[in-house]
Amino acid sequence: MCGIVGYIGKRNATPIIIEGIKRLEYRGYDSSGIAILNDEKELKIFKESGKIIELERALPSPEQTFGNVGIAHTRWATHGEPNTINAHPHTGCKGKIAVVHNGIIENHMNLRNKLESEGHKFKSDTDSEVLAHLIEHFLKIENNLKIAVQDALKLVEGTFGIAVISQENPDSIIAARKGSPLILGIGEDEFFVTSDVTAIIIHTKKVIYLEDDEIVTINHESYQITNLQNEDIEADISIVDWDVSSIDKGEYKHFMLKEIFEQPTSIYNAFRGRLYGRLSTVKLGGLNMTGEELRRVKRLQIIACGTSWHAALIGKHIIENLARIPVEVEYASEYRYRNPIIPEDTIVFAISQSGETADTLAGLREAQAKGARVLGITNTIGSTIARESDGGTYIHAGVEIGVASTKAFTSQVTILTLLAVLLGRMKDLQPTFGKSFIRELELIPKKIEVILQKSNEIRKIAKTIKNFPNALYLGRGVNYPVALEGALKLKEISYIHAEGYPAAEMKHGPIALIDENMPVIAIAPDDEIYEKIISNLEEVKARNGRIISIATEGDERIKQISESVIYVPKTIRTLQPLLTVIPLQLLAYHVADLRGLDVDQPRNLAKSVTVE
Ligand code: AGP
Repeated sequence: MCGIVGYIGKRNATPIIIEGIKRLEYRGYDSSGIAILNDEKELKIFKESGKIIELERALPSPEQTFGNVGIAHTRWATHGEPNTINAHPHTGCKGKIAVVHNGIIENHMNLRNKLESEGHKFKSDTDSEVLAHLIEHFLKIENNLKIAVQDALKLVEGTFGIAVISQENPDSIIAARKGSPLILGIGEDEFFVTSDVTAIIIHTKKVIYLEDDEIVTINHESYQITNLQNEDIEADISIVDWDVSSIDKGEYKHFMLKEIFEQPTSIYNAFRGRLYGRLSTVKLGGLNMTGEELRRVKRLQIIACGTSWHAALIGKHIIENLARIPVEVEYASEYRYRNPIIPEDTIVFAISQSGETADTLAGLREAQAKGARVLGITNTIGSTIARESDGGTYIHAGVEIGVASTKAFTSQVTILTLLAVLLGRMKDLQPTFGKSFIRELELIPKKIEVILQKSNEIRKIAKTIKNFPNALYLGRGVNYPVALEGALKLKEISYIHAEGYPAAEMKHGPIALIDENMPVIAIAPDDEIYEKIISNLEEVKARNGRIISIATEGDERIKQISESVIYVPKTIRTLQPLLTVIPLQLLAYHVADLRGLDVDQPRNLAKSVTVE
């Protein structure tokens, strides 16, 4: 959730690392700070609470912040309130080393008590500060920064991605990871460290994803990777394959809007090369499973959080329908702690856009500890979930910067539909279905373009509900999780309380809430349960509820009970969520924008939740 950027090279580090943490601001943003080693080899630290712009405003003249070595951090508070003292970098007692840290030091109280008893004076309420004092402690013994970091990390329980610089070793950065991502960027005569390639992609696409318990020592000419025992590690260099333009808003006011509009392409990229027309099925090579192994699968369990959990619920519906394989979907945070039963021939899927969500990762590890095969569905190449899974599929949505997930959701759903068809075709699903599925899926990007053209129309509808404090989203079948997702989008970015319900369940309680002040957003495409949902909506109408319907083009009847209707093109039921969710994303976006809120960086939220 926090972000780390470090630079060592010939250029001035300050603008590079400030720009870098700005690129990461979407991950966590309650305070920030930098540490620079200047030409006199003095360590200078600048920290500020609030957004990075506050830090920039507080910086003295460029001459005073000049230096070729620097580290920066943007924080999302876990231990200690988001004030300047708790902001990173942290220093030891002497102020000669600076540490930035992502993750949680679980045994920080023990370590702190011990260090305090030896005379160390702590300044902040954070768990991270203990790292600075611990490294300082070992530096006194060894006077070698790398060895001191290694010794300190051997005592630490928890997770970390760290970068350390020191006045006494002024020509190097030491960085290490365990359970929190850290990447080395290799430029021309310069190096970077970061928790997210987004921060450095404008400088280099050559990267090394560090593994757990690895430490990299970077100086001006070279780098060396070792483990905590100081043994050398050979690491592969990867080339980041996405485009620099994806980290700019371009013509759009917000990243979220840009990402909503990218969905025709991102969905296409999710299925591109994976449709197998000749056999009317699909290919998902990354699963690392033979046809025979897949045929033996008797049950799926899917773990995920938030929006990814909603995608999983859609997946359950479609996989059970097409492949007739039971699918359990569970919040990863619950799964992990309830000693889950994983019967034989069960495959566990972990779905995560970021690939770093701590709860999902913990669930994945728990399933693996029980001997299950775990497959990942993630967007982030080289992420921890991608690396720890036994196989899986990248959704190829491209970098998603808006905190509210949009294009990653539709790409996850696309992958789950492919999985359903793959498993289904191995069982009873007819080739004719496979053929029509492929044909319909290929039409989805064009159909989404049609919906996106209604953005202004949806903005007008957003004006009619923007001042209500509550909203209810109703859907049935495969569109019930779409209702949940629509409600989550509205809550996250507009701070309007919203709930998603299966439409028929409304009469068992929530109907008590219905009156003229309760907007009801109903997902009612033209399918086998259309009549049922219309009856549910009549119940709303009878109580003066204001209905906004998402309906299939050509449905005139629904106009009679709706205050507004947003039409989506017709498709097969399996693919409906890919269309019906688009107006809900746009509606949430426009409501939040009309309320003047920070759409891309909503309060209290972080893009990647790396704490449990
Ligand atoms: C989505 O809009 C949310 N910001 C959040 O619910 C998110 O989906 C959740 O934290 C899971 O993230 P992941 O997909 O990266 O694991």
